[in-house]
Amino acid sequence: MTRLTRSPLATERLAAELAADFHGGECLALDGELGAGKTQFVRGLVRGLGGDPRAVSSPTFVLLNVYDTGRLTVYHLDAYRAAGPADFEAIGFPELLEQNSIVVVEWAARIAALLPPGRIDVCFEAVGPRLRRITWGS
Ligand SMILES: Nc1ncnc2c1ncn2[C@@H]1O[C@H](COP(=O)(O)OP(=O)(O)O)[C@@H](O)[C@H]1O
Ligand SMILES: [Mg+2]
Repeated sequence: MTRLTRSPLATERLAAELAADFHGGECLALDGELGAGKTQFVRGLVRGLGGDPRAVSSPTFVLLNVYDTGRLTVYHLDAYRAAGPADFEAIGFPELLEQNSIVVVEWAARIAALLPPGRIDVCFEAVGPRLRRITWGS
């Protein structure tokens, strides 16, 4: 599915909508250029689950942030600086997938080999200063 958003808040709202259907065990693989809106999307996800969106920041340097929301724990990873799948295996990525939580990965294509088959791919494209095309599907 595809949606155009015209503001950061609209991107948050889309993510919150999707989060309403989550039960735990979902993995979201986010891809798109720097500034395309991946982290903004995670804010909406956390907000949609009842958590604090202000807690969300890009885990570029630490690889992994953890947010407790009202409903589910969200593991937020960023593969931008990962040397490869081995880095993600070292921080226990495969185990995170088995915890009935939400696992969301920015720059997921960099660790493609580790992504589970049932993941939701979300692709972000900046088509204008505030216009984003967001495409998602399993
Ligand atoms: N429609 C939109 N959706 C998401 N972000 C937007 C939008 N329009 C403008 N922006 C801005 O683009 C930037 C997106 O940053 P961020 O979410 O950190 O990107 P990424 O994590 O993909 O590098 C933010 O500065 C945000 O305010
Ligand atoms: Mg980011």
